[in-house]
Amino acid sequence: MRLRNIRGSREAIAESSYIIHEEESRAGTWKEIFGNDHPLYIEIGMGKGKFIMELARRNPQNNYVGIEKYSSVLIRALEKMEQEEAPLSNLYFVRMDAEAIVKVFAPGEVQGIYLNFSDPWPKDRHAKRRLTSPEFLRRYDQILAPEGRIEFKTDNRALFDFSLESVKEVGWKLDAVTCDLHRDEALNAGNIMTEYEERFSAQGNPIHKMVISR
Ligand SMILES: C[S@@+](CC[C@H](N)C(=O)[O-])C[C@H]1O[C@@H](n2cnc3c(N)ncnc32)[C@H](O)[C@@H]1O
Repeated sequence: MRLRNIRGSREAIAESSYIIHEEESRAGTWKEIFGNDHPLYIEIGMGKGKFIMELARRNPQNNYVGIEKYSSVLIRALEKMEQEEAPLSNLYFVRMDAEAIVKVFAPGEVQGIYLNFSDPWPKDRHAKRRLTSPEFLRRYDQILAPEGRIEFKTDNRALFDFSLESVKEVGWKLDAVTCDLHRDEALNAGNIMTEYEERFSAQGNPIHKMVISR
């Protein structure tokens, strides 16, 4: 996924109307950006954008922001947006490192956060970089609405167990959990498969999911 040097990706992103630039000056202005006050949901580490595009298509009553760190990956999502028959007016993308998330959204501005197949960062010394680390949960705490929720999916058991520990450490609630999403009728209802989810479940890996809130 980390093809950092796709030719022209930075330029294409700079010119695209689907991308919100100067994101650190946007906290508190997302209603103005979308032109309505619909609830705002974000996906962090969206990759090529398959999941959040389908979510936005199915839920025109909500607003969505897809966040991705690398231009070379984001460009694939842009290409998909350009192929849409009817443009998705309820979805924008931001190219940024999620470490700066509290500068981009105001306190309580985000109704929900999706984390799908986040990078596992297997070395202990990189644990803080995991998107479900206590450090990241504390950042999400600052931008989530009081009733806001986080949904996290992964096939990586070690990352899932680490995330369960993080939830405990910050004192959040586990609203739902499964270690085999595709066989869990209730949690799998309406599930949108991500690119990684398709790939890993085709290899026979069970998909883990948790839904958490404060
Ligand atoms: C393993 S891929 C999963 C992609 C997609 N969510 C899926 O399930 O198919 C993880 C993605 O998260 C992005 N990512 C990792 N750390 C990030 C961060 N700190 N901020 C923003 N994006 C990040 C990576 O660049 C990569 O595209």
